[in-house]
Amino acid sequence: MRVTVASARSLAAHAVARILREGVTLDAALKDALVAANPQLAPSVRSLSYGAVRGYYRHEAILGRLLSTPVKSLDFLVRALLSVALYELEDEKTPEYAVVDAAVQTAKATDAVRAAGLINAVLRRYLRERKTLDADIARNPATRHASPIWLADRLRADWPVRWTQLLAASDTQAPMWLRVNSRRTTTEEYLGMLQNAGIGARAEERVPLAVVLESPCDVQELPGFGAGLVSVQDLGAQCVAFPLALAAGQRVLDACAAPGGKTALIAEREPNLSNLTAVDVDPQRLTRVRENLKRGELHADVVAGDAAVPGAWWDGIPFDRILLDAPCSALGVIRRHPDIRLRKSPSDIDKLPLLQRQLLNSAWRMLKSGGRLVYATCTLTRSENRDLLGAFVRDTPDAISVPAEEWEGWPNFGEMDEYGRQILPGEAGADGFYYAVVNKS
Ligand SMILES: C[S@@+](CC[C@H](N)C(=O)[O-])C[C@H]1O[C@@H](n2cnc3c(N)ncnc32)[C@H](O)[C@@H]1O
Repeated sequence: MRVTVASARSLAAHAVARILREGVTLDAALKDALVAANPQLAPSVRSLSYGAVRGYYRHEAILGRLLSTPVKSLDFLVRALLSVALYELEDEKTPEYAVVDAAVQTAKATDAVRAAGLINAVLRRYLRERKTLDADIARNPATRHASPIWLADRLRADWPVRWTQLLAASDTQAPMWLRVNSRRTTTEEYLGMLQNAGIGARAEERVPLAVVLESPCDVQELPGFGAGLVSVQDLGAQCVAFPLALAAGQRVLDACAAPGGKTALIAEREPNLSNLTAVDVDPQRLTRVRENLKRGELHADVVAGDAAVPGAWWDGIPFDRILLDAPCSALGVIRRHPDIRLRKSPSDIDKLPLLQRQLLNSAWRMLKSGGRLVYATCTLTRSENRDLLGAFVRDTPDAISVPAEEWEGWPNFGEMDEYGRQILPGEAGADGFYYAVVNKS
């Protein structure tokens, strides 16, 4: 048992160190870390790495107060080992002395061997001064909620009233939402199946076909998952159905489709579209679109292509509906992907509006007169949402912005701005999403 937990700590620390060093995603780092590992280790490795990553910037702030040299001068693996240990101390499931001892032993068994003494000293000092240190860290909302300072500053600039709420929401664990496949079953019937399987769940009445589980589980435990009765999809993502206003006979383009969550939703909701085309620039991610469609017994034309350069793949027949679920800074889904805070920099975010504007311009050229473009992101910055849409509508003579109060069926959540609606992370249990609707005259 000791060996098992020690190995889990080492694997988790190596995964976290890779995110810091190489900027890989937590999912990718975990996948690689677990390839050759004993499968029994997987749950511990996952919870230790998620805990460390989720709390990383709080841990860095604590270490900054304990070390005489800058935290950034420490090797990535040493930082990661300390973050895993600080998470375990916060989690309080393991006695304090055991956490410190394990961190030191893990360091000794890895390339961090020379830092074992430092790890021991820092963690012991933290335990001695914990009350004062924790109180100090909690005073600043950024460090309290484990956010890099630059990110907290940006959120404060865009959301002067809500920014601490947004930081707090990103510091929680997201619930698991399901989308019932209306072609195969009903919400009521599926809730019955979940009940029979001993899985607690409830429907979200305001968003048809959305079901939330009492606690997350492996998809393979979900009744009928393999047969496509349900898919995993956040509530905020499922809200795309309202602004799209799908109808039989429409020609629909999902311009940034992978991994295909919204493509599948579109195909499920309106079986009689004349055509559904799912485009993505990343051929590898398109495999997931095909798998998702196949599992639900759904159909779309899946195309590898750049939505900003449609000449290479578009047949020139305009679309009635275009969904542009644009690549974005993903600040609305940090609670689901806490590694975003470790991997993104302010300059990454600043590059995005230009790409988003190119995609908007290109999508517009493919839209039929009288058609509708739905712009979506899973982020919170004004520059990628309201301000981008504002500039686009102003610069585009045949663009008619459709105010959010006119979107049929939209539930009573999300904050309206001049062009769209922002669901804030945690609101109604959803991730943070932005939607805007522009009709073409
Ligand atoms: C937010 S994700 C889309 C999520 C997807 N709509 C869903 O609901 O599952 C953005 C996608 O845009 C794709 N993308 C980025 N640049 C693109 C481009 N120029 N043309 C087409 N797809 C692009 C990325 O590969 C990524 O899969």
